Amino acid sequence: MVSNQQQNILVTGGAGFIGTHTVVQLLNEGFWVSIIDNLDNSVTEAVDRVRDLVGPDLSLNLEFHLGDLRNKEDLEKLFSQTKFDAVIHFAGLKAVGESVVNPRRYFDNNLIGTINLYEVMAKYNCKRMVFSSSSTVYGQPEKIPCVEDFHLQAMNPYGRTKLFLEEIARDIQKAEPDWKIILLRYFNPVGAHESGQLGEDPKGIPNNLMPYIHQVAVGRLPELNVYGFDYPTKDGTAVRDYIHVMDLADGHIAALRKLFTAEYIGCTAYNLGTGQGTSVLEMVAAFEKVCGKRIPIKLCPRRPGDATAVYASKEKAEKELGWKAKYGIEEMCRDQWRWASQNPWGYQSKP
Ligand code: NAD
Ligand code: UFG
Repeated sequence: MVSNQQQNILVTGGAGFIGTHTVVQLLNEGFWVSIIDNLDNSVTEAVDRVRDLVGPDLSLNLEFHLGDLRNKEDLEKLFSQTKFDAVIHFAGLKAVGESVVNPRRYFDNNLIGTINLYEVMAKYNCKRMVFSSSSTVYGQPEKIPCVEDFHLQAMNPYGRTKLFLEEIARDIQKAEPDWKIILLRYFNPVGAHESGQLGEDPKGIPNNLMPYIHQVAVGRLPELNVYGFDYPTKDGTAVRDYIHVMDLADGHIAALRKLFTAEYIGCTAYNLGTGQGTSVLEMVAAFEKVCGKRIPIKLCPRRPGDATAVYASKEKAEKELGWKAKYGIEEMCRDQWRWASQNPWGYQSKP
């Protein structure tokens, strides 16, 4: 076991959904953490709650910096002040529909931001990176479960940024072999911190299934549109691999430990999923059970570009990172409901 004594981790996008949950676990594990976030899709209240959760002592090991990865000076300022041992890079835009309408915003933010980050990391000789990739890089998988060495494919501009950024990471590492880069391909992150104090708080109408269901349950939205009921699946609705955000957070700790201990890493991709497929209707039923309410649904046509069934092969992460998901659908729904019922309007009070 390595000591985390004074290991400084830069977490980009650390005020966001996955970032906040990961920062709690990093602090609990003894790492020192600096967040850089431009608050494009987050609020400082979320970081305040991270501090409350870890308590006054561990809070001393957390710094928050308002900054934008597209401004190299913001990164220069940080790296010139602190010697970082590794970076966990969450910062990015992630709304698939918006990326189709406004691809330049996605290319600018996700690509330029990340290229700047690599430049500044190289300049300050910080060459350990954990990058947030996505199961979106499998596109419409021909086979399931998705295995890391499958052919990759982008279905939309958001997905293309993840695909490009994976390729960019592989190229950089190939040209400069002292880089150690882990690409984590998240399947469908859901759930919330067990305290009910942290969770997903999307701006506007949610794009994703779970926050939509929870907003129906708290009365913010009238009913759930179920996109597609004629898929060749067990009940006709699409199947995904939902993963508890705390399991995901622990996956990042496992990846960091690997970066600090393994002799050779190169640039390697790992799926973070449970390996279990759950249909939309199964998810609705599981949520109804924990919240004790009926979620009204409307059966709608398929959403363009949606795959029928996607779930992860989990063997590589289990074998090489020593990580596997602990939580099932019931715990994901239970924790998401605790967050939603305690914070029906997310981090804000009712408008
Ligand atoms: P999020 O929007 O909650 O968090 C991202 C954070 O990055 C936000 O706080 C935002 O303000 C910040 N940010 C964005 N652009 C920035 C910039 N240029 N400079 C500084 N900060 C910036 O999203 P999340 O769900 O926590 O996702 C984190 C990462 O994981 C993203 O890269 C996302 O693409 C990836 N991912 C998410 C999912 C998912 O379903 N949530 C699935 C797969 C991959
Ligand atoms: N769904 C509904 N109603 C909704 C929202 C979603 O029926 O209101 C359905 C979708 O059609 C899909 C399933 O619920 O069958 C899951 O949808 P999400 O939008 O929650 O997640 P996706 O699997 O479609 O994809 C999202 C991102 C991808 C990313 C993936 C995994 O859009 O880019 O999560 O991280 F790769």
